[in-house]
Amino acid sequence: VSDASLYLPEHRDLASLARAAQGCKACPLHERATRTVFGEGPVGARVMLVGEQPGDTEDREGRPFIGPAGQLLDDVLAQVGLNRQELYVTNAVKHFGWMGDEKQRLHAKPGRREVLACKAWLEAEVAQVKPRMIVCLGATAAQSFLGPGFRINLSRGQVFETPWAPAWMATFHPSALLRMPDERARAQARSHFEADLRKVAETV
Ligand code: URA
Ligand code: SF4
Repeated sequence: VSDASLYLPEHRDLASLARAAQGCKACPLHERATRTVFGEGPVGARVMLVGEQPGDTEDREGRPFIGPAGQLLDDVLAQVGLNRQELYVTNAVKHFGWMGDEKQRLHAKPGRREVLACKAWLEAEVAQVKPRMIVCLGATAAQSFLGPGFRINLSRGQVFETPWAPAWMATFHPSALLRMPDERARAQARSHFEADLRKVAETV
């Protein structure tokens, strides 16, 4: 495992970064994934959403948050009046990681080494987009910025000033909501998720 900064292009804009990221081999995830799934959205987007890593659907289609988690995210964004077209949507890790055979392709959470390897792409995106607010979906994204000590359960929904953006927040990952077996817990988490994104809409 090396570091994606070796692959950063000299001339940087979102298009050249996305192109260069297609060739990234800084960690082993590129070996089994179909393609790099880079972030998408306009330069100057006020809000940057950062997920964990592309899932099976995203790996096949090449765009972030278009599978089941993306559907839930889209629903909640619409509910709080945020227009996805105006946001920049990306992931902490740009390649899908999976275990099992080709038929199963079971999502495997990225480790600290992959997150650190991929961080150069995320920081390059932040430097181009210059969002007013960064919203981390889940612990992996939050820990990419603030380190492995960050706990969603302790700090969810709080807004911090950070070197990357004047406003920074972490909330649940939509996949975590989809996975909760207990219906009441799921409904409660979803209402927290909604409240957090409503706060984002009001902050920016
Ligand atoms: N989960 C993520 O974290 N990111 C995606 O793009 C899709 C699912
Ligand atoms: Fe490079 Fe990130 Fe893919 Fe690893 S996951 S190969 S660091 S783009």
